[in-house]
Amino acid sequence: MVAEIDKKQLKVKPIENGTVIDHIECSKALNVYQILNMPKDTTLTLAMNVNSKNGAKDILKIEGKELCESEVSKIALISPNATINIIKDSKVLKKFKVQVPDEIEGILICTNPNCITNKEKVNGKFTIEDKEKLKIRCNYCEKFINEIKIKKE
Ligand SMILES: Nc1ncnc2c1ncn2[C@@H]1O[C@H](COP(=O)(O)OP(=O)(O)OP(=O)(O)O)[C@@H](O)[C@H]1O
Ligand SMILES: [Mg+2]
Ligand SMILES: [Zn+2]
Repeated sequence: MVAEIDKKQLKVKPIENGTVIDHIECSKALNVYQILNMPKDTTLTLAMNVNSKNGAKDILKIEGKELCESEVSKIALISPNATINIIKDSKVLKKFKVQVPDEIEGILICTNPNCITNKEKVNGKFTIEDKEKLKIRCNYCEKFINEIKIKKE
């Protein structure tokens, strides 16, 4: 009986081929969604504030999506503990934790309004001085950024 109710109510299907971004920090799934710039008709499932081992988390499951390196770096900057699961034929083919890179080119906006990168068409470069606390220094003005602002493409 219970199984029958579930069948009717559960419209969410597993994905066949694509990517599951799991263990996203609570309430950050929409930020992750935004930086991925996906076509409007992309099939995806989004779960926010669901129970997990270590408190609550968000999950984003995207059919047909393969992440590139810069997308993985962006996700790491939004949620350093997220895991990426590559799904092939409905199974987890590969799993890895996102990694905050040592250096970043592009991707971020310097939060110093007087920085040259905000006045002229210069691609920002940043050095990550603490990956846990996300202490990130701009190579141009040498100031720490005070907020993660990701560039729109
Ligand atoms: N075919 C699929 N379609 C949709 N989601 C899937 C599919 N296969 C796995 N997942 C999801 O991918 C994530 C990782 O799956 P896995 O089976 O490795 O779970 P797990 O053992 O709980 O992993 P972890 O230790 O990383 O939490 C889970 O959120 C799971 O629901
Ligand atoms: Mg799990
Ligand atoms: Zn700067």
